[in-house]
Amino acid sequence: MKGLVLALVLAALPVTAQTATPKTYSYPENLDVPYVPTPQEVVTGMLKLADVKNDDTVVDLGCGDGRIVVTAAKDFGARGIGYDLNPERIKEANENASKAGVEKRVKFIEKNLFDAPIAEASVVTLYLLPGVNEKLKPRLLSELKPGTRVVSHSFMMPDWEPAQKADIDGRTIYMWVVPKREAK
Ligand SMILES: C[S@@+](CC[C@H](N)C(=O)[O-])C[C@H]1O[C@@H](n2cnc3c(N)ncnc32)[C@H](O)[C@@H]1O
Repeated sequence: MKGLVLALVLAALPVTAQTATPKTYSYPENLDVPYVPTPQEVVTGMLKLADVKNDDTVVDLGCGDGRIVVTAAKDFGARGIGYDLNPERIKEANENASKAGVEKRVKFIEKNLFDAPIAEASVVTLYLLPGVNEKLKPRLLSELKPGTRVVSHSFMMPDWEPAQKADIDGRTIYMWVVPKREAK
């Protein structure tokens, strides 16, 4: 797990800063991923890559301070739901939604991302870890509507070719589109 956390901390740094000693983040034992916020320009890049529009519902699994969901509502006119296990993050996310004046378009819920309902999403955003993406993948493919876009900051999804990729400030973001399910 320590190696994965280091991978996330390193991925959070622009390439030019990756030779410096990374800041260490502590996080409660029950969390699968430490809190490392996505920089604002990368948030905007993720939402643009997913082509978010005002009829979208953006679900951020592990929403941190809510910046992805708040930006989706404020700058793209979407609705959004963020799930996070850490109550401090949920409190910050609600405060940020109020500051941005989008509290009627967004919800933040304290819940384990592995139990979060995702079926109503048209866009799912992730900044997790490779092993967490891998564990989530079967649910993404079986519970999301075909056509739903999944965007991940820094981390790939095993054995699922992204439809698009982009580099922003030295970070790679990936976008997949949920395919039609095979008829049984
Ligand atoms: C790397 S941060 C990403 C925050 C935000 N999505 C962003 O991109 O700025 C990961 C977040 O996932 C949350 N988290 C970790 N494990 C979780 C779990 N099992 N269920 C829900 N949230 C979790 C952490 O509290 C943290 O806020």
